[in-house]
Order: sequence, then C-alpha cells, then structure tokens
Amino acid sequence: MEMIKVITVRSVIHCLLCLVITVAASNISTDQQALLALKDHITYDPTNLLGTNWTSNASICSWIGIICDVNSHKVTTLNLSSFNLQGTIPPEIANLSSLKSLDLSHNKLSSNIPSSIFTMSTLKVLYLMDNQLSGSLSSFTFNTSSILDIRLSKNKLSGKLPENICNHLRYLKHLFLRENMFYGKIPSSLSKCKQLQELHLGYNNLSGAIPKEIGNLTVLQRISLINNKLHGEIPQEIGYLQNLDVLQLGFNNLTGVVPATIFNMSTLKEIFLYNNSLSGSLPSRIDLALPNLEFLNLGINSFSGTIPSSITNASKLILLEMGSNSFSGFIPSAIGNLRNLKLFDIFFNNLTSSTPELGFLSSLANCKKLRYLGLGGNPLDGFLPSSIGNLSLSLERLNIAFCNISGNIPKAIGNLSNLIVLSLGGNNLSGSIPVTFGGLQKLQGLDLAFNKLAGSIPDEICLLSRLNELDLNGNKISGSISSCLGNLTSLQYLNLGSNRFTFVIPSTFWNLKDILSFDISSNLLDGPISLAIGNLKAVVGIDLSRNNLSGNIPTTLEGLKSLQNISLAYNRLEGPIPESFGNMTSLESLDLSNNKISGSIPVSFEKLSYLKELNLSFNKLKGEIPRGGPFANFTAESFMGNELLCGLPNLQVPPCKHSQPRAQHKSKKTILLLVIFLPLSTTLVIAVALALKRGKRGTMLSNDIILSSQPTIRRFSYFELLRATDNFAENNIIGIGGFGSVYRARLEDGVEIAIKVFHPQCASTLKSFEAECEVIKNIRHRNLVKIISSCSNDDFKALVLEYMSNGSLEDCLHSSNCALNIFCRLNIMIDIASALEYLHFGHSTPIIHCDLKPSNVLLDEDMVAHLSDFGMAKLLSGEDESTMRTQTLATIGYMAPDEIFVGELSLKRWVNDLLPVSLVEVVDKSLLSGEEKHFAAKEQCLLSIFSLALECTMESPEKRIDAKDTITRLLKIRDTLSKRIGNLS
Ligand SMILES: *[C@@H]1O[C@H](CO)[C@@H](O)[C@H](O)[C@H]1NC(C)=O
Ligand SMILES: *[C@@H]1O[C@H](CO)[C@@H](O)[C@H](O)[C@H]1NC(C)=O
Repeated sequence: MEMIKVITVRSVIHCLLCLVITVAASNISTDQQALLALKDHITYDPTNLLGTNWTSNASICSWIGIICDVNSHKVTTLNLSSFNLQGTIPPEIANLSSLKSLDLSHNKLSSNIPSSIFTMSTLKVLYLMDNQLSGSLSSFTFNTSSILDIRLSKNKLSGKLPENICNHLRYLKHLFLRENMFYGKIPSSLSKCKQLQELHLGYNNLSGAIPKEIGNLTVLQRISLINNKLHGEIPQEIGYLQNLDVLQLGFNNLTGVVPATIFNMSTLKEIFLYNNSLSGSLPSRIDLALPNLEFLNLGINSFSGTIPSSITNASKLILLEMGSNSFSGFIPSAIGNLRNLKLFDIFFNNLTSSTPELGFLSSLANCKKLRYLGLGGNPLDGFLPSSIGNLSLSLERLNIAFCNISGNIPKAIGNLSNLIVLSLGGNNLSGSIPVTFGGLQKLQGLDLAFNKLAGSIPDEICLLSRLNELDLNGNKISGSISSCLGNLTSLQYLNLGSNRFTFVIPSTFWNLKDILSFDISSNLLDGPISLAIGNLKAVVGIDLSRNNLSGNIPTTLEGLKSLQNISLAYNRLEGPIPESFGNMTSLESLDLSNNKISGSIPVSFEKLSYLKELNLSFNKLKGEIPRGGPFANFTAESFMGNELLCGLPNLQVPPCKHSQPRAQHKSKKTILLLVIFLPLSTTLVIAVALALKRGKRGTMLSNDIILSSQPTIRRFSYFELLRATDNFAENNIIGIGGFGSVYRARLEDGVEIAIKVFHPQCASTLKSFEAECEVIKNIRHRNLVKIISSCSNDDFKALVLEYMSNGSLEDCLHSSNCALNIFCRLNIMIDIASALEYLHFGHSTPIIHCDLKPSNVLLDEDMVAHLSDFGMAKLLSGEDESTMRTQTLATIGYMAPDEIFVGELSLKRWVNDLLPVSLVEVVDKSLLSGEEKHFAAKEQCLLSIFSLALECTMESPEKRIDAKDTITRLLKIRDTLSKRIGNLS
C-alpha cells in the first residue's frame, strides 16, 4: 500500500510556479529585485508560500510577510519568521532602502550574515535568531546607526565579539547574541552603546573578566552572561546600574567576594550566581537592600555567614536557592513570612534550628505555594514536628536527608498528598513506617535508608502505584517481605538490603519487569532462588548476598542481557555454575563467594570481556582455572578456598595434571560453538550494546559490530534537552502525533538531533513510549531511524533520535521542492522493504511495525529512507509463535487514511480497476505524462511496481508476498529500468 502511495500522489501536487520573469528590468523596482533575490536564495520552502504568493503579477506590497509605506509603496517590514525556510540571505536584501524591520527568525537559513545588512540606514529591528547562520562578525563595519534591536541568538556564529559594534550604533537598546559560539573577551567598548537596556551573551565560550565599563551603561536593565568561561571578580561598577532588574552570571568561573554594591541594588528582581566560586556573606538588612528581589540563586559557591533574619521581610521572594555553600547559624524561624516562596533550598550547609522541634518548619506551613523544600545535609539535630503535615499541599519535593533527625516519622506526613519525592534517609529515625504513607498517591521516590526504622513494611506502601524508587536499606525492618510490593510495576530501584527480613523472596517480585536495580542483601531470607528471576529483563544490578538462600544457581540468569553486577555471596547455594553464564555479555562483576558451589569454572567465562571483578572464593570448585579473556587479570583472591582448583602458579593453586590435552579439547569445542553461534548472536550482541549505559568498551567476539554501529551511548539530562530545544519552543516542533511532539534540537556541540517527547501522565502514550523502547532496544538497521538515547524520569519521557534533514516522505511527496524521480522512488521502496525484511526476519522475535505510512518514513541528507515511529509496533513472541504470527499478519493492518477513498472505493480497488489501461491517470504526472522519451520503458517499470504493490496488499496472508521476495523483485525492476534508459540517479 505504501508503494502505491509513493507513486500515486493523489492529492494534486501544488504546481511549481516556475516564473519566467520576462518583464524588462527597468519595470522592476529595486525593492522587488531585492525580494526576488531573497526568494532565489531560498532552497527549500516546505509550504511553498513564496512560490505561490510572491508572484510578479501581484504588487510586492500584497506579498505575504511584506508591509509597505502607504505613500511611497516602499517596503518597510519584511517578516518571514517561522516559515521553516532553508537557504541563505543574499546581500541584495540591503537594497530595501526603506526597511525598518527585518525578521527572518526561526527558519533554517545558513551560511554568513551579509555584512551589507549593517549598512542599512533605516533599519531599526533585526531578528535572525534561531537559524543556522555561521561565520564571524568581527570584521564587519556597523553603520546601521538607526538600529534599536539586534537578535542573533541560537545560531552558529563564532569568532570574537566585534570591538567596534558600538562605534555607530548609538541607539541600540537590545543586543541578543546568546547560544552561539563566540569566544574571546567581552569588549569594554560595549560601554559606548549608551542606550543599551538588555545584553544577552549567555551560552557562548566567552572568557576573561567582565569589563568594569559595563557599569557605565546607565540604562541597562538586564545582563545575562550565563554559561561562559568568565574569570575574575564581579566588578563593583555593575552595582551602580540604577535600572538593573536581572543579573545572571551563573555557570562561570567567577571568584572573590561579591561586591557590597551588588547586594544593595534596590531595582534587582533576580540575582543568579549559581555555580561559580564566589564568597562573602549577605547584608544584614537584605530586606532594605534588595526590596524587589524575587529570585535569589547563590547555589554551589563558597558563601558563608548567617542567613540574616531580615530576609523574612523580603516579601516578594519566590525562589531562595542557597544550597552547597558554607552558611551557618539558625534558619530564620519566621521564614514562613515569605508567603510567595515556591522553592527554598539550603542543602549541604552548616545551618541548624533554634528549637529541637524545628520551629522554622512549622512556620513554613504559611508558604502556601511551596513546591520544593530542600534541607538535606544540615545538622538540624531535632525531631520532626507533626506540624510537618501542615506544609503546603503544593509541596512536591521534600528532602530532610542527613540532618541528624531522631524520633518517629509523624503520621501527618501522609497529608502531603502531592509529594513526588520524599527523602528522609541518613537520620536516626526510629519507630515504624506510618501506614498513612498510603496517602502519598503521587509518590515516585521514597528514601528512608540508613535510619533505625523497625516493624514490618505496611501494606499501604503497595498503594503507591507510581513508585519508581524505594530505598529502605540499612534499617531494622523485620517480618516477611510483603508480596504486594511486586504489584509496584513502576519500580526501577528497590533496595531492602541490610534489614531483618525473614522467610522467602516473594514470587511476585519476578513481575518487576522494569526493575534496574534489585538489592535484598544482608537479610535472613531462605529458600531457593526462583527460575523466574529470568523475567527481570531490564535489570542491571542484583544483590542477594548475605542471606540463607539455598538450592542451585538459576540457569535463567543467562537471559539477563543487561546485567552488569550480580552478587550471590554468603548464601548456601550449591550445584554447578551454569555453563551458559558465558552469555551474560554485559557482566562486569560476579560474586559467588562463600557458598557450596561445585563443579568446574565454565570456560565460557573467557568470553566475558567486560568482567572486571570475579569472586569465586570459598566454594567447592575443582578443575582447571581458565586462562583466556578476563582471567589474565584475576588474582589468587578470586579463587582461594577452593581446594580442588588447579592452574597457573600465580593463582596459588597446584598445577593441573593433564592441562594440555584438556585445554585443547575444550577450546576446540568453544571454537565450534562460536562458529555455530556467531551468526545467530549478531543481533543479540547489538542489542546488548544498545542496552549498555556506558558505550566505550573493549573488544569481544563481535567487536567490529559494536565499534562500527555503536560508538558511545550518550546520556542526556532533561535540562540538556530543554536547552537544546529552547525550552521546547513551538517553532522547533517538526511533527505532532497522538503520542506527543517531535522537536528539532541542537546540542551544545552543534550536532542536530530530533527529540520525541511523549505526553506526560497519559497511559496510552506511556504505553507507546514503552512499546517503542522495548522494540528499539533490540534493533538496529541502516534503514531504521537511529535512536541515540532516551531520557526518562518520573515526569518526562523522551527519545533522542538522529535528525533527518530531508524530513518525511509525506512532506516530500506534497512539496514541489523535493523532486523525486523514478529511481529515487525505487530506492526509497527498496530501503523500506529492507527495513521490513529486517523487522520481520532479521531477529529472533519478529517485529510488526503496525503504522507504516509516508509520514513515518524519514529521509536523510542523502535521501536514504529510514523507517521511524515504533510506538504501535508489536513484538511477536510467545509460546505459539507461528499461530500468533499468522493471526497478526492476517489482520489488515493500519493504512494511511485517504479522504477521497470512502466506502467501497479503496485506493487499492481504484488502482486495480484502472490498470493497466489507464496507467497515466493513476501515476504522479511528474513521473509519466505520456509524452516523454522513454515512455515504454517507464510504463513497463511502473506496471511492474503496481503489480508488486497489489501483491503486497493481498488480504489473504498466504497469497501476500513477503518482504524478502519484495526486495528481490524491486531490485530486478530497478535493474531492468536502468539497463533500458540509463540510471539517472
Ligand atoms: C499572498 O498572501 C497575502 C497574505 O496572506 C494575501 O493577502 C494575498 O492575497 C496573497 N496573494 C496571492 C497571489 O496569493
Ligand atoms: C564611566 O563611569 C565611571 C564611574 O563609574 C566614570 O568615572 C567614567 O568617566 C565613565 N566613563 C564614561 C566614558 O562615561
């Protein structure tokens, strides 16, 4: 069906208006010439607006994006913002002699900014932000003395900031150069732009000190120099700026004491000094000194002294971030007077409370907008008052970890029904976990580790269905582990280690399919380890050590392809180490020590090339210690306490008696196994490589595959993605679907990526995200869109994908700029058929895409097609695979809707009815008009494609052709055509 669509673009393609301008040059105004020059330099216009609207039979003043002066009919405004245009800006644009406003922002324009723009004598506003403009401005002459506003943010401009920019731009009020690649110093000559109100130079590579001359820009309101490499002290002259309301200097290398003048600027609303090495203390009358302050962010610096109690009069404060400094003394007990406070964070300081019942905490109950309260890492030395339950209902994050708190956890904490994360770890809390915790229905993270909590886990914890992380490590909790914990299927981190749990591991735990880290070590659990442990498909770390577990080591562990660390030490396990452990290719550390394990060490361990730590000591192992692979690095400690092991003398074991013949025999077998296993394991190895968190790794049996297709799995934080998409700005959206939106994004290093963001909190998109993750985890093919990474936390799920610069096939088919000749189309068909062949046959579990349509086919730079969007894909696994497969293949999958084909008339039927007689009616006119040279050859080729397409869309699965045969046929069709008419591509 897809193939028919490729050929028969049934919606009439917008005519490409190839305007042949025959009008004599003298009849065209200079303005028109300038605009036509611009149109000429646009290489891609996805909606073809300029093609259909900027036509020479209409006055330029009626053209879209143009405003003219009513009297002179000269162009005064040119605004093509967010048209998604590609191309360059021609120097002729400067010939628009009355232009006041030029806005080409939010497009994909590239190459240099023509220097002529800065000679225009009428221009007031220049907006070129969010394009791909490059080059340096440092040699430009800036003569645009009329200009008020220059915004060039979010491009790829580099070089030094021009020294002379302010020589003539006397009236410049706004200068936005953020998110480029400028380097060198901030020129002190900026002080000549006397009218400057806003200066944005953040997210560049600027170095040196902040010039004190900035202090002469008396009308300056905002300075943002965030995220550069600025050194030295903050000049006190900045404190003389009487109109400044925003000062952002965070993420630099600034040092020294913050000048007193800065903390005395009555106009300031925001001070952002986060992440520098600044020191000094706050003024004692901060309320009078900074009466308008709303945002004070001093986090990650070396500030000291007390928090002045006068701060409680700074009633406009919304955000107070002081974390990771050296503040000391009491937390002001009237802190709750700050009624607008949304975030109060003082983590890792030396602050304490004036009362053991933490009076400031009761006071904070007055802050009804409070969402984030971070007190962790301060010696509060008290107990939690029940008034903690009166804190704002808006509270989402509460961190009181490592504060030396003792006593019970107040039941009233259960009132805070909007909490998402609660951290009380590392205190001296005693008593039991309150049953009221069941009221924290939105909780995703619960950290109670390293306290003295006793009693059993209340079943109410099992009501917390969104729980992602549960950490009860290092308490005195006893009883059996509630089996209902296994219902918390969102869990990824579960730590019940170092408690006093008895009885067996509940069998429900093996339902935790998404669990990444599973630790129940150092308890009193007994019974065998269930074979169902093999269900924990995602798990990376397992620690069951120091219990009384008995029986054999489960052979199903072999199936855990992401497992990196496992410890079963100090139990009563017996029997052999399964030979199949050699297939746990991600394994980095394995501890089976202090059990009763017998048999020999499997030679298959030599394949575990990432294995760095191995402890088999104090068991009953015998026979030869293998020598290959990682064994070269292990010492005697790994093997001690096994009396019957033999091998090399450095391992402090006796030499083996018949070592030569045995080794040879074994390795032959291994080779044989390898030969048989290798082709099968190829995808498996790729899947493992994909699942690995750390990409850079050594060699293993198929290292060429890993190295060529999987250089490094890069991890992205939410904030990186936020920045790369300009806070998920709408103009970066390149696609919208039921699941959410896809954004175009550019990373710090200039690399373009696409980010698919799933709608939060919606079961169906979560499912779609999970489906997609499940599928892509296991696949990799030239014609599938490459997933670079994923970013998933409690509130945010996204996939980071390779960016496909030529957009979707759908867009291409409906655009006149994206001419696809018959060879291009055949290549795209072959690409997609190859992708389908891989999905259906290239893998032990067949994958059905279920949403194949032109908008899910993306084209890269070289017009190679890549299939995307696995949100609806199905993995065909299960016991009776063959029946299931037939069933699924027998259902008619989704097909792209086609509005002209309603009722009885399907696209397929329509094609069937018209062929072969009326081929020309069916085919896209640009492929076959009936009058061309190679008509016969093309006609035959197209008929073959249609006949194949009809075979692909047979309703009966038995009659339907499969992907393998489809490719063979397509290749043949392409060959025949190129032999007859020569390959045009
Ligand atoms: C071009 O677009 C403008 C603004 O949308 C519209 O008023 C004008 O009629 C259009 N001209 C043509 C030739 O389509
Ligand atoms: C800049 O300001 C300082 C005082 O802060 C003053 O002495 C100096 O004359 C000013 N320079 C100019 C060029 O206005």
